Amino acid sequence: MAFDPAVLRDSFAVVERRADHLATYFYAHLFAHNPGLRALFPDEMAEQRDRLFAALTRIVLRLDDPAQLTGYLRALGRDHRKFRAAPEHYPAVGASLIAALRHFSGHSWTPEIEKTWTEAYTVIAQVMTEAADAVPDGTPAWWEAEVAGRRRAAADITVLTLAPAHPYPFVPGQYLTLSSPRLPQVWRPYSIANAPRPDRTLDVHVRRVPGGLLSTALVDDVAPGESLRLGPALGDAVLDPGSHRPLLAVAGGTGWGQTKALLEQLAAELATREVTLLLAARSDAEQYDLAAVERLLAHCGRLRVLLAAPRPGGGRDAAVGLVRDALLRHGDWSGWDVHLSGPPGLAPALAGLLAGLGADPARIRHDPVPATFNRTRPLTSSDWFLDQRDVPWINRTELG
Ligand SMILES: Cc1cc2nc3c(=O)[nH]c(=O)nc-3n(C[C@H](O)[C@H](O)[C@H](O)COP(=O)(O)OP(=O)(O)OC[C@H]3O[C@@H](n4cnc5c(N)ncnc54)[C@H](O)[C@@H]3O)c2cc1C
Ligand code: HEM
Repeated sequence: MAFDPAVLRDSFAVVERRADHLATYFYAHLFAHNPGLRALFPDEMAEQRDRLFAALTRIVLRLDDPAQLTGYLRALGRDHRKFRAAPEHYPAVGASLIAALRHFSGHSWTPEIEKTWTEAYTVIAQVMTEAADAVPDGTPAWWEAEVAGRRRAAADITVLTLAPAHPYPFVPGQYLTLSSPRLPQVWRPYSIANAPRPDRTLDVHVRRVPGGLLSTALVDDVAPGESLRLGPALGDAVLDPGSHRPLLAVAGGTGWGQTKALLEQLAAELATREVTLLLAARSDAEQYDLAAVERLLAHCGRLRVLLAAPRPGGGRDAAVGLVRDALLRHGDWSGWDVHLSGPPGLAPALAGLLAGLGADPARIRHDPVPATFNRTRPLTSSDWFLDQRDVPWINRTELG
């Protein structure tokens, strides 16, 4: 990538603290100049505003690591097929992005900065559109899937079984994105909760987030026979294929879905490979799907399961405390592969703790942590990553 990352980083630092205004301006500019594009976006745009900025932050912070950045952009470009984003839309998005950056940079904006942003955007858009274009013929932009079954697993958690109309390629540990015609253009990620099956059905474990758009519809309303759309499988929190090291899997809440997929994939090896599963919930009542855990235990001699659910009234802090205690009690995690899955914040908090207990950070895997939550936005990109917060549990009402 020929442009100078330092120019972009410095210019981004100027607008970062005005992220919300910048994103609002960007979308107003985009839709005013290209009214036809409005229909590609959901009615409710507050979350998308945050996502746009999270994506920009992610890109700017990765400019010095072109290989990683290119991988991310290629996946993003392929995924954008499901939004019906076409190559001719990219210049319009770029023009609105530059207009928004210029507007909020004030006097610090210079022709050199504009030239650098334009070059960078051109490269980014090219990587995304080429990746979308290189998708093999016949690969759908999204997969239609029928809801083949639904099961209430706990008060706020529903397991949906989905039957895609066409073969759906994925590796256990990946997630998909879901959209329902009940909420057009609203897409959200959910972990795939099983290894591939002969009948190619997929399970997702969905927790209702208070006030949440799609999770409420999926947990309460969506009925068998209804159709949902699946975006292509994403994520690289998959098992290291060549590894015979012992495995620690920590799952919190619906994070059990992703972990279950990994353990199903590992089932054949579980007779010989040492696996510790630490399964955390906010209460006994939310410790769901234990029959599946018992089935795995019955067949897998070297699987050890620790259930962590606090006494009634303990709440999320007590649950997090139990997980920490269990990890600390074991002591030394060097030589272990580690998979972390659960509410946002769980992975960053536990990855730090485990690294301190000897786990190799390169062998700790988890999904990307969404940057958009109900909290005050940090002021700088270093705050963004370094600020230590409590683990936010999945229930928004408890986030305060
Ligand atoms: C890689 C990945 C995998 C995921 N896998 C699963 C899964 O297997 N099962 C599952 O139930 N969820 C999973 N999620 C979360 C899921 O994608 C949605 O964020 C969640 O269902 C809420 O969507 P919504 O449309 O109902 O809420 P929105 O309408 O998007 O949000 C409503 C409000 O709730 C807040 N909020 C959104 N999500 C959460 C959350 N997770 N915790 C606390 N507050 C939140 C938002 O900030 C917003 O203020 C995953 C997320 C990611 C990034
Ligand atoms: C370099 C250019 C672009 C970048 C970096 C980018 C980045 C992103 C990211 C990160 C998301 C959130 C994805 C998610 O949360 O799953 C997103 C969503 C989206 N993008 Fe883009 N995008 C670009 C160009 C475009 C273009 C050209 C279009 C077409 C008009 C487009 C349409 C959309 C739509 C419709 C959504 C979903 C909105 C939502 O879920 O609220 N994007 N984009």
